[in-house]
Amino acid sequence: MKKTDIETDETICQCYQVCESTIRSCIESKNLKTIEEVTEACEAGGGCHSCHILIDLFIDEHQKKSTPMETLVTTHFNKVKKRGILGRFFKKFKSDVPANK
Ligand code: FES
Repeated sequence: MKKTDIETDETICQCYQVCESTIRSCIESKNLKTIEEVTEACEAGGGCHSCHILIDLFIDEHQKKSTPMETLVTTHFNKVKKRGILGRFFKKFKSDVPANK
C-alpha cells in the first residue's frame, strides 16, 4: 500500500473500525455480493448499519454495476439519516461506471 493510499484510507465502518481498503479487498478477493457476506468476512456493517450504503456502493463498483444514486439513497436512507454518512457517500459516488442496459 502506498503512502497516499494509507493517508486516504478512510474508516468506513465506525462500529468495527474497518477501513475502505479492507472492505474493498474482501469484496474483490472473495467476490462478495451482499452486505451480509462483507460483514461475515470483515465485520464491517455488523453494528448500526449506517455504513451499509457505502458497502453497497463498493459492491456495486466491484460488480461494475451502476445502481442509480437515488436507489442507493432511498434503500439506505433510514439507516444513514442520523449518522452524517450521506456526505461521505456523495463524495465517493462515481458515475463513471457504465449504466446497466
Ligand atoms: S458504522 Fe458500520 S455498522 Fe455501524
